[in-house]
Amino acid sequence: MGCACSIAAEDACVHEHYSFHEKLGQGAFGQVRACVQRGTKLSCAVKIIKVDGRRTEKKDAQKEGLLWNRVGCHEHVVSLLASYADEHFSYFVMERCEHSLCDMLLQEADIVSTFRQMLLGIQACHSVGVVHRDVKPANFLVSMNGSVKLCDFGLATVEKDGGCIGIAGSSPFMSPEMVQWKAYDSKTDIWSLGATAYLMLYGSFPYVITQTDDHMMLYGRNRSRNQTMQRAIATDSPPIAYTTEDGLHCPSALVRDFVQTLLQRDTNKRPSSNECLCLPAMQLKDSSRIEIPSREASPSSKIQRDKRRTAEFKTPMDPTVEKTMDDLIEQLQTKFQGSFARSFSLPVPGEKQPVLSSRSNSHGGELSTRLGDETSECSTTASSGSKAPQIYWV
Ligand SMILES: Nc1ncnc2c1ncn2[C@@H]1O[C@H](COP(=O)(O)OP(=O)(O)OP(=O)(O)O)[C@@H](O)[C@H]1O
Ligand SMILES: [Mg+2]
Repeated sequence: MGCACSIAAEDACVHEHYSFHEKLGQGAFGQVRACVQRGTKLSCAVKIIKVDGRRTEKKDAQKEGLLWNRVGCHEHVVSLLASYADEHFSYFVMERCEHSLCDMLLQEADIVSTFRQMLLGIQACHSVGVVHRDVKPANFLVSMNGSVKLCDFGLATVEKDGGCIGIAGSSPFMSPEMVQWKAYDSKTDIWSLGATAYLMLYGSFPYVITQTDDHMMLYGRNRSRNQTMQRAIATDSPPIAYTTEDGLHCPSALVRDFVQTLLQRDTNKRPSSNECLCLPAMQLKDSSRIEIPSREASPSSKIQRDKRRTAEFKTPMDPTVEKTMDDLIEQLQTKFQGSFARSFSLPVPGEKQPVLSSRSNSHGGELSTRLGDETSECSTTASSGSKAPQIYWV
């Protein structure tokens, strides 16, 4: 599949060109749906971000598109195919993947190859000066041919002299330098990859927190959780245990070494993405050379638990916001096509859904800050629409 992102104009209408279908994911800032290009019947996915005409949200969405485009076409990055905007939403049409890494059953042999592919996606970002800042299992997708791909540039930023400052991402995966409000660079993503690898291998986050009910009542469940987690990472307490949970077998020394190298608190000692690819574990091409440990815990229950734990660090949703968004999308589809079938999947009753919150750099509704405007690469290339084009971004 090609991956050149087409020009998107404010007056180009995604609903004319694509039919929207079932929901594939509900993120903090919008939702992802399956979609089909009406003419070619090409199956894609569309990320829909609620902007409602607000300048900040619009600029954030523009920045997401710009940085995603800057990383460009890469085997281990989800391809952005086209971007659109209207007064309500920004839309990113992308290649459709099979599922997220969270849904995969992994054995250690697959894990090494998976880590290598994750690293290659991250290296693609770093090679063009983009820091992803939201590396976590849910932001790696698996394509139809089994390739692992990095997605979600919603919190990405440009690496700059003197480093970046500010909290961004999901608390359990944040680096020590970030939560200590020090300047950080692309090595923050390497830490987050280490935390992702730790969760996949050891069954818990590197830093484990306990909560008192009083604290939760006082500050609100998620806020308290996020603050406590960030404090644990900042202070290295309790230190990372490297012990497996729930009867999971210990990873091999080689793999443990790999994770420990990524979770190096001293950024001078932590390798860059290029250096990570040279680590001994990454040299293993033949998976049969690794002894595959049997897992006592059921992999599917482990996956469900990992998903639940990560979701606990997201802001709880307001279901009415999601419903309003669904209704509006349906109206737009009907308006521009007229034959929109009611094919959206309904939420499972009682299932906890993530929130559609106003955009902040942290998924936990935490303090956030953003360095000056980095979206300086808007193109003035004209589109081929019949009306005078108002170029949004390429
Ligand atoms: N191209 C795709 N194909 C299939 N599923 C996808 C695709 N893109 C995203 N998804 C699903 O939607 C979820 C949310 O996507 P994404 O991470 O881009 O949105 P987000 O709003 O930033 O979410 P979050 O706040 O959870 O990080 C993914 O975790 C994945 O399950
Ligand atoms: Mg995401």
